[in-house]
Amino acid sequence: MATCSEYIKTVFPSIDDDLKQYVEGVLKNGADEFEDSEEVYEAVGEVLQEVSSDKTEEDIRDICNELLNILKPNKAKTNNGPMKVLNAPIHLGSMVDNLDNNIEDIKSIWVMQRDDSLMQKKLEKAQAKLQEKQDKRTKDVKSVVVPKLQTATASQVTSKKESKLESKGNNRTQDIRIENFDVAYGDRVLLQGADLTLACGRRYGLVGRNGLGKSTLLRMISSGQLRIPSHISILHVEQEVVGDNTLALESVLECDTVRADLLKREKEISTAINAGSTDPNLNTQLSEIYAQLQNIEADKAPAKASIILNGLGFTSEMQQRPTKTFSGGWRMRLALARALFSRPDLLLLDEPTNMLDIKAIIWLENYLQNWPTTLLVVSHDRNFLDTVPTDILHLHSQRIEAYRGNYEQFERTKTEKLKKSTKGI
Ligand SMILES: Nc1ncnc2c1ncn2[C@@H]1O[C@H](COP(=O)(O)OP(=O)(O)OP(=O)(O)O)[C@@H](O)[C@H]1O
Ligand SMILES: [Mg+2]
Repeated sequence: MATCSEYIKTVFPSIDDDLKQYVEGVLKNGADEFEDSEEVYEAVGEVLQEVSSDKTEEDIRDICNELLNILKPNKAKTNNGPMKVLNAPIHLGSMVDNLDNNIEDIKSIWVMQRDDSLMQKKLEKAQAKLQEKQDKRTKDVKSVVVPKLQTATASQVTSKKESKLESKGNNRTQDIRIENFDVAYGDRVLLQGADLTLACGRRYGLVGRNGLGKSTLLRMISSGQLRIPSHISILHVEQEVVGDNTLALESVLECDTVRADLLKREKEISTAINAGSTDPNLNTQLSEIYAQLQNIEADKAPAKASIILNGLGFTSEMQQRPTKTFSGGWRMRLALARALFSRPDLLLLDEPTNMLDIKAIIWLENYLQNWPTTLLVVSHDRNFLDTVPTDILHLHSQRIEAYRGNYEQFERTKTEKLKKSTKGI
Protein backbone atom coordinates (compact mmCIF):
# COMPACT_ATOMS: atom_id res chain seq x y z
CA MET A 1 0.00 0.00 0.00
CA ALA A 2 2.97 2.27 0.65
CA THR A 3 3.81 2.05 -3.06
CA CYS A 4 0.25 2.93 -4.03
CA SER A 5 0.44 5.90 -1.70
CA GLU A 6 3.74 7.08 -3.22
CA TYR A 7 2.40 6.63 -6.73
CA ILE A 8 -0.74 8.65 -5.95
CA LYS A 9 1.37 11.42 -4.44
CA THR A 10 3.57 11.46 -7.56
CA VAL A 11 0.75 11.66 -10.08
CA PHE A 12 -1.45 13.93 -7.96
CA PRO A 13 1.01 16.17 -6.07
CA SER A 14 -1.73 18.53 -4.95
CA ILE A 15 -4.10 15.86 -3.63
CA ASP A 16 -5.85 16.74 -0.42
CA ASP A 17 -4.86 14.50 2.52
CA ASP A 18 -8.37 13.31 3.29
CA LEU A 19 -9.06 12.41 -0.30
CA LYS A 20 -5.76 10.58 -0.55
CA GLN A 21 -6.64 8.60 2.55
CA TYR A 22 -10.07 7.88 1.14
CA VAL A 23 -8.63 6.54 -2.13
CA GLU A 24 -6.02 4.50 -0.27
CA GLY A 25 -8.74 3.09 2.00
CA VAL A 26 -10.85 2.01 -0.97
CA LEU A 27 -7.82 0.49 -2.71
CA LYS A 28 -6.55 -1.27 0.39
CA ASN A 29 -9.86 -2.77 1.33
CA GLY A 30 -10.84 -3.68 -2.21
CA ALA A 31 -7.41 -5.04 -3.16
CA ASP A 32 -8.36 -8.69 -3.24
CA GLU A 33 -11.54 -7.95 -5.15
CA PHE A 34 -10.34 -6.02 -8.18
CA GLU A 35 -10.45 -8.20 -11.25
CA ASP A 36 -9.43 -5.61 -13.82
CA SER A 37 -8.53 -1.94 -14.10
CA GLU A 38 -12.13 -1.08 -15.02
CA GLU A 39 -13.15 -2.09 -11.49
CA VAL A 40 -10.45 0.13 -10.01
CA TYR A 41 -11.67 2.95 -12.24
CA GLU A 42 -15.25 2.39 -11.04
CA ALA A 43 -14.12 2.48 -7.43
CA VAL A 44 -11.83 5.52 -7.43
CA GLY A 45 -11.86 7.00 -10.95
CA GLU A 46 -14.39 9.70 -10.21
CA VAL A 47 -12.57 10.89 -7.11
CA LEU A 48 -9.25 11.00 -8.93
CA GLN A 49 -10.81 12.93 -11.77
CA GLU A 50 -12.02 15.44 -9.19
CA VAL A 51 -8.51 15.98 -7.95
CA SER A 52 -6.98 16.92 -11.23
CA SER A 53 -9.01 18.53 -13.96
CA ASP A 54 -6.01 18.67 -16.33
CA LYS A 55 -6.07 14.90 -16.71
CA THR A 56 -8.29 13.23 -19.28
CA GLU A 57 -10.46 10.24 -18.58
CA GLU A 58 -7.92 8.20 -20.53
CA ASP A 59 -5.13 9.41 -18.20
CA ILE A 60 -7.16 8.43 -15.16
CA ARG A 61 -7.85 4.99 -16.63
CA ASP A 62 -4.11 4.52 -17.20
CA ILE A 63 -3.46 5.57 -13.61
CA CYS A 64 -6.07 3.06 -12.40
CA ASN A 65 -4.36 0.36 -14.44
CA GLU A 66 -1.04 1.26 -12.84
CA LEU A 67 -2.64 1.17 -9.38
CA LEU A 68 -3.96 -2.29 -10.18
CA ASN A 69 -0.49 -3.23 -11.38
CA ILE A 70 0.89 -2.26 -7.98
CA LEU A 71 -1.88 -4.09 -6.10
CA LYS A 72 -2.16 -7.16 -8.31
CA PRO A 73 0.63 -7.27 -10.87
CA ASN A 74 -0.85 -10.20 -12.77
CA LYS A 75 -4.24 -8.54 -13.31
CA ALA A 76 -3.21 -5.25 -14.91
CA LYS A 77 -3.01 -4.77 -18.66
CA THR A 78 0.61 -5.03 -19.64
CA ASN A 79 0.46 -4.90 -23.45
CA ASN A 80 1.15 -1.17 -23.66
CA GLY A 81 3.18 -0.80 -20.53
CA PRO A 82 6.89 -1.31 -20.00
CA MET A 83 8.07 -4.74 -18.96
CA LYS A 84 8.61 -5.20 -15.24
CA VAL A 85 12.19 -5.93 -14.26
CA LEU A 86 12.62 -7.77 -11.01
CA ASN A 87 15.39 -6.61 -8.70
CA ALA A 88 15.88 -10.03 -7.23
CA PRO A 89 14.81 -13.56 -8.04
CA ILE A 90 11.58 -14.57 -6.38
CA HIS A 91 10.72 -17.91 -4.93
CA LEU A 92 7.10 -18.77 -5.58
CA GLY A 93 7.03 -21.52 -2.94
CA SER A 94 7.94 -19.11 -0.16
CA MET A 95 5.41 -16.59 -1.47
CA VAL A 96 2.74 -19.24 -1.08
CA ASP A 97 3.91 -20.00 2.46
CA ASN A 98 3.74 -16.33 3.30
CA LEU A 99 0.12 -16.27 2.28
CA ASP A 100 -0.70 -18.11 5.51
CA ASN A 101 0.78 -15.30 7.55
CA ASN A 102 -1.01 -12.71 5.50
CA ILE A 103 -4.49 -14.15 5.70
CA GLU A 104 -5.32 -11.77 8.51
CA ASP A 105 -4.40 -8.86 6.28
CA ILE A 106 -6.81 -9.85 3.57
CA LYS A 107 -9.86 -7.83 4.35
CA SER A 108 -12.30 -6.37 1.93
CA ILE A 109 -14.03 -3.05 1.73
CA TRP A 110 -17.36 -4.76 1.84
CA VAL A 111 -16.63 -6.54 5.05
CA MET A 112 -16.22 -4.09 7.87
CA GLN A 113 -15.20 -5.17 11.30
CA ARG A 114 -17.80 -4.00 13.72
CA ASP A 115 -15.26 -2.13 15.83
CA ASP A 116 -13.45 -0.72 12.83
CA SER A 117 -15.11 2.63 13.37
CA LEU A 118 -11.99 4.76 13.01
CA MET A 119 -11.52 3.88 9.36
CA GLN A 120 -15.24 4.25 8.82
CA LYS A 121 -15.18 7.73 10.34
CA LYS A 122 -12.27 8.70 8.15
CA LEU A 123 -14.06 7.49 5.06
CA GLU A 124 -17.19 9.31 6.07
CA LYS A 125 -15.21 12.50 6.57
CA ALA A 126 -13.59 12.14 3.19
CA GLN A 127 -16.91 11.29 1.61
CA ALA A 128 -18.49 14.40 3.16
CA LYS A 129 -15.63 16.50 1.83
CA LEU A 130 -16.02 15.01 -1.61
CA GLN A 131 -19.74 15.67 -1.50
CA GLU A 132 -19.08 19.25 -0.47
CA LYS A 133 -16.79 19.68 -3.45
CA GLN A 134 -19.29 18.09 -5.78
CA ASP A 135 -22.06 20.35 -4.46
CA LYS A 136 -19.85 23.37 -4.98
CA ARG A 137 -19.07 22.30 -8.51
CA THR A 138 -22.77 21.74 -9.18
CA LYS A 139 -23.44 25.29 -8.05
CA ASP A 140 -20.62 26.65 -10.23
CA VAL A 141 -21.69 24.94 -13.39
CA LYS A 142 -24.77 26.27 -15.15
CA SER A 143 -25.98 23.15 -16.91
CA VAL A 144 -26.10 20.31 -14.46
CA VAL A 145 -26.14 16.74 -15.65
CA VAL A 146 -28.49 14.84 -13.42
CA PRO A 147 -27.77 11.12 -13.40
CA LYS A 148 -30.65 9.40 -15.07
CA LEU A 149 -32.46 7.08 -12.74
CA GLN A 150 -33.57 4.03 -14.56
CA THR A 151 -35.60 0.98 -13.85
CA ALA A 152 -33.52 -2.14 -13.67
CA THR A 153 -34.42 -4.90 -16.09
CA ALA A 154 -33.85 -8.59 -15.85
CA SER A 155 -33.92 -11.38 -18.38
CA GLN A 156 -33.61 -15.04 -17.72
CA VAL A 157 -33.49 -18.31 -19.59
CA THR A 158 -36.23 -20.57 -18.22
CA SER A 159 -35.92 -24.28 -18.02
CA LYS A 160 -38.53 -25.99 -20.21
CA LYS A 161 -39.03 -28.71 -17.63
CA GLU A 162 -39.81 -26.22 -14.89
CA SER A 163 -42.13 -24.16 -17.11
CA LYS A 164 -44.05 -27.32 -17.94
CA LEU A 165 -44.39 -28.32 -14.29
CA GLU A 166 -45.35 -24.75 -13.43
CA SER A 167 -48.09 -24.57 -16.08
CA LYS A 168 -49.55 -27.87 -14.87
CA GLY A 169 -49.42 -26.67 -11.29
CA ASN A 170 -47.16 -29.62 -10.45
CA ASN A 171 -44.08 -27.72 -9.44
CA ARG A 172 -43.69 -28.44 -5.75
CA THR A 173 -39.96 -28.00 -5.45
CA GLN A 174 -38.86 -25.74 -2.64
CA ASP A 175 -35.44 -25.12 -4.22
CA ILE A 176 -34.98 -22.03 -6.32
CA ARG A 177 -32.92 -22.12 -9.46
CA ILE A 178 -32.52 -19.01 -11.59
CA GLU A 179 -30.34 -19.84 -14.53
CA ASN A 180 -28.44 -17.79 -17.04
CA PHE A 181 -29.88 -14.40 -16.20
CA ASP A 182 -28.90 -10.80 -16.80
CA VAL A 183 -29.66 -7.68 -14.78
CA ALA A 184 -29.06 -4.17 -16.09
CA TYR A 185 -29.85 -0.52 -15.64
CA GLY A 186 -30.15 0.60 -19.25
CA ASP A 187 -26.70 -0.04 -20.75
CA ARG A 188 -25.11 -0.63 -17.36
CA VAL A 189 -24.93 -4.39 -17.03
CA LEU A 190 -24.74 -5.58 -13.44
CA LEU A 191 -25.07 -9.31 -13.96
CA GLN A 192 -24.55 -11.30 -17.12
CA GLY A 193 -25.16 -14.99 -17.65
CA ALA A 194 -25.34 -15.45 -13.90
CA ASP A 195 -26.77 -18.47 -12.08
CA LEU A 196 -28.35 -18.50 -8.66
CA THR A 197 -29.38 -21.60 -6.77
CA LEU A 198 -31.04 -21.36 -3.38
CA ALA A 199 -31.58 -24.74 -1.77
CA CYS A 200 -34.46 -25.01 0.65
CA GLY A 201 -33.54 -24.42 4.27
CA ARG A 202 -30.12 -22.90 3.64
CA ARG A 203 -29.06 -19.39 4.62
CA TYR A 204 -27.16 -17.47 1.96
CA GLY A 205 -24.99 -14.45 2.70
CA LEU A 206 -24.68 -12.32 -0.45
CA VAL A 207 -21.43 -10.36 -0.51
CA GLY A 208 -19.59 -8.23 -3.03
CA ARG A 209 -18.11 -4.78 -3.48
CA ASN A 210 -20.31 -1.70 -3.13
CA GLY A 211 -22.42 -0.87 -6.14
CA LEU A 212 -22.11 -4.21 -7.93
CA GLY A 213 -25.84 -4.90 -7.78
CA LYS A 214 -26.66 -6.87 -4.62
CA SER A 215 -29.66 -4.74 -3.65
CA THR A 216 -30.83 -4.65 -7.26
CA LEU A 217 -30.71 -8.45 -7.40
CA LEU A 218 -32.92 -8.74 -4.31
CA ARG A 219 -35.36 -6.30 -5.86
CA MET A 220 -35.43 -8.25 -9.13
CA ILE A 221 -36.35 -11.39 -7.20
CA SER A 222 -38.99 -9.82 -4.97
CA SER A 223 -40.65 -7.91 -7.82
CA GLY A 224 -40.98 -11.13 -9.80
CA GLN A 225 -38.80 -9.91 -12.67
CA LEU A 226 -36.63 -12.93 -12.05
CA ARG A 227 -39.10 -15.76 -12.04
CA ILE A 228 -39.20 -18.35 -9.33
CA PRO A 229 -41.85 -21.05 -8.81
CA SER A 230 -45.13 -19.36 -7.99
CA HIS A 231 -45.91 -21.47 -4.91
CA ILE A 232 -42.83 -20.12 -3.12
CA SER A 233 -43.75 -17.15 -0.95
CA ILE A 234 -41.19 -14.35 -0.82
CA LEU A 235 -40.81 -11.42 1.53
CA HIS A 236 -38.33 -8.64 1.04
CA VAL A 237 -37.81 -6.30 3.97
CA GLU A 238 -37.21 -3.08 2.16
CA GLN A 239 -39.74 -0.51 3.20
CA GLU A 240 -40.80 0.62 6.62
CA VAL A 241 -44.28 -0.13 7.91
CA VAL A 242 -46.84 2.59 7.22
CA GLY A 243 -47.62 4.60 10.35
CA ASP A 244 -51.29 4.49 11.39
CA ASN A 245 -53.43 3.68 14.42
CA THR A 246 -52.67 -0.05 14.39
CA LEU A 247 -50.83 -1.11 17.53
CA ALA A 248 -47.31 -2.41 16.95
CA LEU A 249 -48.11 -5.91 18.21
CA GLU A 250 -51.31 -5.98 16.19
CA SER A 251 -49.48 -4.91 13.03
CA VAL A 252 -47.21 -7.93 13.41
CA LEU A 253 -50.07 -10.32 14.19
CA GLU A 254 -52.11 -9.23 11.19
CA CYS A 255 -49.45 -10.55 8.78
CA ASP A 256 -50.71 -14.01 9.63
CA THR A 257 -53.62 -13.65 7.25
CA VAL A 258 -54.95 -17.17 7.81
CA ARG A 259 -55.30 -16.48 11.53
CA ALA A 260 -56.72 -12.99 10.93
CA ASP A 261 -59.36 -14.35 8.50
CA LEU A 262 -60.41 -17.12 10.86
CA LEU A 263 -60.76 -14.68 13.77
CA LYS A 264 -62.80 -12.32 11.59
CA ARG A 265 -65.19 -15.10 10.56
CA GLU A 266 -65.45 -16.30 14.15
CA LYS A 267 -66.48 -12.80 15.19
CA GLU A 268 -69.07 -12.50 12.40
CA ILE A 269 -70.67 -15.85 13.20
CA SER A 270 -70.68 -15.22 16.96
CA THR A 271 -72.37 -11.87 16.38
CA ALA A 272 -75.00 -13.55 14.18
CA ILE A 273 -75.68 -16.23 16.81
CA ASN A 274 -75.89 -13.64 19.59
CA ALA A 275 -78.31 -11.64 17.48
CA GLY A 276 -80.63 -14.64 17.55
CA SER A 277 -79.93 -16.32 14.20
CA THR A 278 -81.30 -19.87 14.13
CA ASP A 279 -79.30 -21.02 11.08
CA PRO A 280 -78.17 -24.55 12.11
CA ASN A 281 -75.06 -24.30 9.89
CA LEU A 282 -73.61 -21.52 11.98
CA ASN A 283 -72.72 -23.75 14.91
CA THR A 284 -71.02 -26.29 12.64
CA GLN A 285 -69.06 -23.51 10.94
CA LEU A 286 -68.03 -22.13 14.29
CA SER A 287 -66.73 -25.51 15.46
CA GLU A 288 -64.74 -25.86 12.23
CA ILE A 289 -63.21 -22.45 12.75
CA TYR A 290 -62.22 -23.32 16.33
CA ALA A 291 -60.63 -26.55 15.11
CA GLN A 292 -58.63 -24.67 12.47
CA LEU A 293 -57.56 -22.02 14.97
CA GLN A 294 -56.36 -24.76 17.26
CA ASN A 295 -54.59 -26.44 14.40
CA ILE A 296 -52.51 -23.39 13.58
CA GLU A 297 -51.91 -22.76 17.31
CA ALA A 298 -53.52 -19.36 16.96
CA ASP A 299 -53.51 -18.79 20.71
CA LYS A 300 -49.71 -18.88 20.75
CA ALA A 301 -49.37 -16.21 18.03
CA PRO A 302 -49.42 -13.13 20.31
CA ALA A 303 -46.63 -14.58 22.47
CA LYS A 304 -44.56 -15.43 19.37
CA ALA A 305 -45.03 -11.95 17.92
CA SER A 306 -44.15 -10.40 21.25
CA ILE A 307 -40.92 -12.40 21.51
CA ILE A 308 -39.82 -11.15 18.09
CA LEU A 309 -40.70 -7.54 18.89
CA ASN A 310 -38.95 -7.77 22.21
CA GLY A 311 -35.84 -9.19 20.54
CA LEU A 312 -35.81 -6.27 18.12
CA GLY A 313 -35.94 -3.77 20.99
CA PHE A 314 -39.66 -3.08 21.51
CA THR A 315 -40.56 -2.99 25.21
CA SER A 316 -44.03 -4.23 26.27
CA GLU A 317 -45.16 -0.62 26.44
CA MET A 318 -43.88 0.10 22.92
CA GLN A 319 -45.64 -2.98 21.56
CA GLN A 320 -48.95 -1.40 22.58
CA ARG A 321 -48.30 1.90 20.82
CA PRO A 322 -49.82 2.84 17.41
CA THR A 323 -47.34 2.43 14.54
CA LYS A 324 -47.65 6.13 13.67
CA THR A 325 -45.89 7.06 16.92
CA PHE A 326 -42.63 5.41 15.75
CA SER A 327 -39.79 6.98 13.78
CA GLY A 328 -38.76 5.64 10.37
CA GLY A 329 -36.01 3.53 11.90
CA TRP A 330 -38.37 1.83 14.32
CA ARG A 331 -40.97 1.31 11.60
CA MET A 332 -38.23 -0.44 9.63
CA ARG A 333 -37.70 -2.73 12.64
CA LEU A 334 -41.45 -3.35 12.61
CA ALA A 335 -41.21 -4.40 8.98
CA LEU A 336 -38.46 -6.84 9.94
CA ALA A 337 -40.57 -8.17 12.84
CA ARG A 338 -43.51 -8.72 10.48
CA ALA A 339 -41.31 -10.60 8.01
CA LEU A 340 -39.82 -12.82 10.73
CA PHE A 341 -43.28 -13.56 12.09
CA SER A 342 -44.69 -14.35 8.62
CA ARG A 343 -42.01 -16.94 7.87
CA PRO A 344 -42.08 -16.75 4.06
CA ASP A 345 -40.50 -19.60 2.08
CA LEU A 346 -37.81 -17.16 1.00
CA LEU A 347 -36.83 -14.22 3.17
CA LEU A 348 -34.78 -11.44 1.57
CA LEU A 349 -32.93 -9.04 3.84
CA ASP A 350 -30.72 -6.15 2.76
CA GLU A 351 -28.12 -5.17 5.34
CA PRO A 352 -30.42 -5.82 8.31
CA THR A 353 -27.80 -4.98 10.92
CA ASN A 354 -27.66 -1.38 9.68
CA MET A 355 -31.02 -0.65 11.27
CA LEU A 356 -30.30 -2.33 14.59
CA ASP A 357 -28.33 -1.70 17.75
CA ILE A 358 -25.85 -4.28 18.96
CA LYS A 359 -28.31 -5.99 21.34
CA ALA A 360 -30.89 -6.46 18.60
CA ILE A 361 -28.18 -7.61 16.16
CA ILE A 362 -27.12 -10.37 18.53
CA TRP A 363 -30.73 -11.40 19.02
CA LEU A 364 -31.30 -11.46 15.23
CA GLU A 365 -28.14 -13.50 14.65
CA ASN A 366 -29.41 -16.12 17.10
CA TYR A 367 -32.94 -16.06 15.76
CA LEU A 368 -31.83 -16.53 12.16
CA GLN A 369 -29.68 -19.51 13.05
CA ASN A 370 -32.93 -21.42 13.54
CA TRP A 371 -34.62 -19.93 10.49
CA PRO A 372 -36.72 -22.79 9.11
CA THR A 373 -36.95 -21.78 5.45
CA THR A 374 -34.56 -20.18 2.95
CA LEU A 375 -32.78 -16.92 3.64
CA LEU A 376 -30.91 -14.63 1.26
CA VAL A 377 -29.25 -11.78 3.10
CA VAL A 378 -26.94 -9.01 1.92
CA SER A 379 -24.49 -7.93 4.57
CA HIS A 380 -21.19 -6.15 5.05
CA ASP A 381 -21.03 -7.10 8.70
CA ARG A 382 -18.26 -9.59 9.38
CA ASN A 383 -19.67 -10.97 12.64
CA PHE A 384 -23.10 -11.41 11.11
CA LEU A 385 -21.61 -13.16 8.06
CA ASP A 386 -19.64 -15.51 10.27
CA THR A 387 -22.66 -16.37 12.40
CA VAL A 388 -25.74 -16.58 10.19
CA PRO A 389 -25.00 -17.92 6.68
CA THR A 390 -24.58 -21.58 5.79
CA ASP A 391 -23.37 -20.48 2.35
CA ILE A 392 -21.74 -17.41 0.86
CA LEU A 393 -22.66 -16.05 -2.56
CA HIS A 394 -19.92 -13.84 -3.92
CA LEU A 395 -21.04 -11.33 -6.53
CA HIS A 396 -18.15 -10.30 -8.76
CA SER A 397 -17.32 -9.97 -12.43
CA GLN A 398 -21.07 -9.89 -13.17
CA ARG A 399 -21.50 -13.43 -11.85
CA ILE A 400 -22.44 -15.10 -8.60
CA GLU A 401 -20.03 -17.63 -7.17
CA ALA A 402 -21.30 -19.99 -4.47
CA TYR A 403 -19.22 -21.17 -1.51
CA ARG A 404 -20.22 -23.58 1.24
CA GLY A 405 -19.87 -22.39 4.81
CA ASN A 406 -19.80 -19.04 6.56
CA TYR A 407 -17.66 -16.02 5.71
CA GLU A 408 -14.60 -17.32 7.51
CA GLN A 409 -14.77 -20.54 5.53
CA PHE A 410 -15.26 -18.52 2.34
CA GLU A 411 -12.10 -16.53 2.97
CA ARG A 412 -10.17 -19.69 3.66
CA THR A 413 -11.41 -21.34 0.47
CA LYS A 414 -10.56 -18.24 -1.52
CA THR A 415 -7.04 -18.17 -0.10
CA GLU A 416 -6.63 -21.87 -0.88
CA LYS A 417 -7.73 -21.20 -4.45
CA LEU A 418 -5.23 -18.37 -4.70
CA LYS A 419 -2.47 -20.63 -3.39
CA LYS A 420 -3.34 -23.31 -5.90
CA SER A 421 -3.37 -20.88 -8.80
CA THR A 422 -0.01 -19.44 -7.68
CA LYS A 423 1.42 -22.95 -7.49
CA GLY A 424 0.05 -23.65 -10.92
CA ILE A 425 2.12 -20.87 -12.54
N1 LIG B 1 -32.28 3.63 -10.42
C1 LIG B 1 -31.04 3.47 -10.87
N2 LIG B 1 -30.71 3.87 -12.14
C2 LIG B 1 -29.47 3.68 -12.63
N3 LIG B 1 -28.48 3.09 -11.94
C3 LIG B 1 -28.75 2.68 -10.68
C4 LIG B 1 -30.04 2.85 -10.09
N4 LIG B 1 -30.01 2.34 -8.83
C5 LIG B 1 -28.76 1.88 -8.65
N5 LIG B 1 -28.01 2.08 -9.75
C6 LIG B 1 -26.61 1.68 -9.93
O1 LIG B 1 -26.56 0.27 -10.03
C7 LIG B 1 -25.45 -0.24 -9.34
C8 LIG B 1 -25.88 -1.31 -8.38
O2 LIG B 1 -26.59 -0.74 -7.31
P1 LIG B 1 -26.99 -1.58 -6.02
O3 LIG B 1 -27.64 -0.65 -5.08
O4 LIG B 1 -27.76 -2.78 -6.43
O5 LIG B 1 -25.56 -2.05 -5.48
P2 LIG B 1 -25.18 -2.81 -4.14
O6 LIG B 1 -24.33 -3.98 -4.54
O7 LIG B 1 -26.40 -3.09 -3.34
O8 LIG B 1 -24.25 -1.76 -3.39
P3 LIG B 1 -24.04 -1.49 -1.81
O9 LIG B 1 -23.16 -2.59 -1.31
O10 LIG B 1 -23.34 -0.17 -1.78
O11 LIG B 1 -25.40 -1.46 -1.18
C9 LIG B 1 -24.77 0.95 -8.66
O12 LIG B 1 -23.63 1.26 -9.39
C10 LIG B 1 -25.78 2.04 -8.70
O13 LIG B 1 -25.14 3.29 -8.88
MG1 LIG C 1 -27.08 -2.37 -1.50
